Amino acid sequence: MSATASAPPRSHFPAAEQFLYLDAAHQTPLSVPVRNALDAFYDEALESAGPKKRWLARLTDVRARLAAFLGVDADQIAFTKNTSEGINIAAHGLHVEPGDNVLLLEGEHPNVAYAWLNRQPDGLEVRMVPQDGRKKWADADTFAAYVDDRTRAIALSHVMFHNGQRNDVAGIARLARAHGAEVVVDAMQSVGVLDVDARALGASVLAAGCHKGLLVPQGLGLLCTPYGAKGLRPTYMALAGVADPDEHVVVGAGRVEPRGDARRFEIGNFNLPAIHALAAALDLIEGLGVRDIERHVLDLGDHLIAHLDDLGIALVGPREREHRSHIHVLDLPASRWAGFLAAEGARLSSVRDGIRISFGLYNNAEDVDRLAALLRRGLRTLPHRAAVR
Ligand SMILES: Cc1ncc(COP(=O)(O)O)c(C=O)c1O
Repeated sequence: MSATASAPPRSHFPAAEQFLYLDAAHQTPLSVPVRNALDAFYDEALESAGPKKRWLARLTDVRARLAAFLGVDADQIAFTKNTSEGINIAAHGLHVEPGDNVLLLEGEHPNVAYAWLNRQPDGLEVRMVPQDGRKKWADADTFAAYVDDRTRAIALSHVMFHNGQRNDVAGIARLARAHGAEVVVDAMQSVGVLDVDARALGASVLAAGCHKGLLVPQGLGLLCTPYGAKGLRPTYMALAGVADPDEHVVVGAGRVEPRGDARRFEIGNFNLPAIHALAAALDLIEGLGVRDIERHVLDLGDHLIAHLDDLGIALVGPREREHRSHIHVLDLPASRWAGFLAAEGARLSSVRDGIRISFGLYNNAEDVDRLAALLRRGLRTLPHRAAVR
């Protein structure tokens, strides 16, 4: 699956054939196999009035597959609703004393920032760590001057939504551990697109939603605790999270014993249609291999950068392959360019006054060439900032 060959499953993604779809970082278009899996689920619901036992057995299989996909054990995965729920589980589950601190990157996704800011009333100091303007990704050096023995956590995105930078989470995790701090990773943009091994990344908690790289509709998320969940107290508690569940028990006053694993964070019933569909999405992703998907989106990025250099358009994020992802933000004033590109049938996002192009496994080199042709046309009349490298 190289940038010059067309990506094999293109026909599985009708929207990618219909539009110039360059917005995987916003939402991946629904694929035919995932749609078929959803239909099959609803057929079962119609025909057998909700075969819950069968559905829950399937959930167990999907949990195990997802765990293997992320390099962890099945009991280290909890199903959630989205990334924000996972980040909040970590932020609110951590014991903090007044004067403790958490480190966040300046410019983080709001859903990372708000979860921690919401603990300020408990005395948690939120330290916003600036990034070196020249080096366009974060590593241990970025945080070294800000971490101390009151740091309880470093929380960050693996891939940042606003410029596509891929942070060196493993190096940051080593720094955090040396100070007794946890590492809470938002992997929304990377799971299913880059080869994510949650344990190798050193994440205490890794959270993501499943509607981007994992190809299912919104409303399903995952939380992963590669090094155990016992250090985090569940803020909510339901039968699903209790150590010895018994749905017939008459609950009396007394201590609640949460499960020892990630499932302590699961609340009530699950998003079963999406979990069912996730099996089909994993078939698709694993059929190609996530390493090949990663290579493919980076190859498309190389191809895009060559065009941008030719056009004199700067990239907002890093140029180096190892610090990049599937997201590339063009330094073009979005207020003028977004309308032009949308009118030409390109689906992409404006972020912080740049134009965000994000690739999925369904994109191909011709898509990049079509975009470059549009950019060339736009440059005749629309303003742009001179590329300075
Ligand atoms: C880095 C990052 N985190 C989180 C989200 C979304 O959070 P949630 O899954 O809670 O909707 C996005 C984008 O939608 C994102 O880019």
